[in-house]
Amino acid sequence: MDYTRLNEEHKSKLRNIVGESYFLDSEEQLKDYSHDETEDFSFLPEAVLKPQTVEQVSDILKYCNDNRIAVTPSGARTGLSGGALPVAGGINLSLEKMNRIIEIDERNLQATVEPGVINQVFHMACKEKGLFYPPDPSSWGSSFLGGNLALNAGGPKAVKYGVTNAYVLNLQVVLANGEVIWTGANVLKNSTGYNLTQLMVGSEGTLGIITKVVFRLIPYPKKSMLMLIPFPEAEKACEAVSAIFQKGITPSGMEFMERDAIDWTLKYVDEVQLPIGDEVKAHLLIEVDGNNEEVLMQDCEDIASVVENFGAGEVLFADNENDKEALWKLRRRVGEAVKSHSIYKEEDTVVPRAELARLLKGVKDIGNRYGFKSVCYGHAGDGNLHVNIVKGGMSDRAWEEELPKGIREIFELVKSLGGTISGEHGIGWVQKNYMDIVFSPVELNLQKAIKKVFDPYGILNPGKIFTD
Ligand code: LAC
Ligand code: ZN
Repeated sequence: MDYTRLNEEHKSKLRNIVGESYFLDSEEQLKDYSHDETEDFSFLPEAVLKPQTVEQVSDILKYCNDNRIAVTPSGARTGLSGGALPVAGGINLSLEKMNRIIEIDERNLQATVEPGVINQVFHMACKEKGLFYPPDPSSWGSSFLGGNLALNAGGPKAVKYGVTNAYVLNLQVVLANGEVIWTGANVLKNSTGYNLTQLMVGSEGTLGIITKVVFRLIPYPKKSMLMLIPFPEAEKACEAVSAIFQKGITPSGMEFMERDAIDWTLKYVDEVQLPIGDEVKAHLLIEVDGNNEEVLMQDCEDIASVVENFGAGEVLFADNENDKEALWKLRRRVGEAVKSHSIYKEEDTVVPRAELARLLKGVKDIGNRYGFKSVCYGHAGDGNLHVNIVKGGMSDRAWEEELPKGIREIFELVKSLGGTISGEHGIGWVQKNYMDIVFSPVELNLQKAIKKVFDPYGILNPGKIFTD
């Protein structure tokens, strides 16, 4: 698709919509908005616009639609699949100025927010009122709720509480032609027509721009306990995961970290120290939460007895807030630590929980055949394994030409185990070449036809999800 390049007239029209200080086009500013957290990709937009109101978003989209100008929506740009990369140039539509928590409705346990609110800021505002917004991706300290919606983000709590889509009741969306719609109603159940709310969640900014969100909330659980469990065999740690659920326990966090993941992170995060025996190959980090301490103690005891059968070493209990925070900090920063360690690619594989050990083994076998090392960690309770392929000593040629074949094999394995190619990071720019592994042409064409209905000229987040 050919998009219109911005000339001075376009720029002046767009500048007038948002106001002088919310229109950026200096080289340095454009560079800031040329990347997210995906590898080292960078694509310069021609201008950055920071609307402050839904009316401005509407005016911008109408103008861009009429003039066939590419629009790449962006938030905090913490994404890992390249969703916010302005690959077709045009404008980067940053939602960062639309960052109000409009209302926390304690009568209905609902909240209405704008897309530029930081996840953790929202979480804390709810917590102050005794309310809980559970989705907590590792980037929660900086990522925006709008971006979380775009990718249907998960995080450690998803295993018990579900991912972002489980909390969305209603969305205000600006369509490609500038029209403003609401997708549903502020209700807990809704069998009224097609579910446009859930269609919008996870659509990666390709169908419309979310300008308001109505979330449902739940009461904040009063207690939690956290255990770090070492294993001498990584596959055994994976096998223990489904055994714990089979025992009748649903942890509120069930994270897996390979040895390298925790070692690299310990080096990267100065303030956390943890002695780890030489024999340890992986850890499970398991949290239980609720309101009754005795029940949680019993859950922890039951978990400890299950993991014993899988060769677990001595369990570390974090029983005070500082220790809990330190362990969660360690876990949340694994991604950054891997990134700082080496050039890498991240694959966000997800399989049915009980297939996790087979996935891990398969990834290692494929790595041995292709000559790459991987560091794996992730949300084991969801069967969601982040496979970080590190470049290490691989030649540039092998990295560029051979590795994609290895990644394809990983995704074929994932598919054969009943899984899919992204659990929570999205398809964006970097995974679109692999969509054919998990969708037939009929299935892909249905999705593309939906895109066409919402965005006939393809101005919204071009180059994402699909190869054409
Ligand atoms: C995590 C991010 C990378 O699990 O999804 O840390
Ligand atoms: Zn994750």
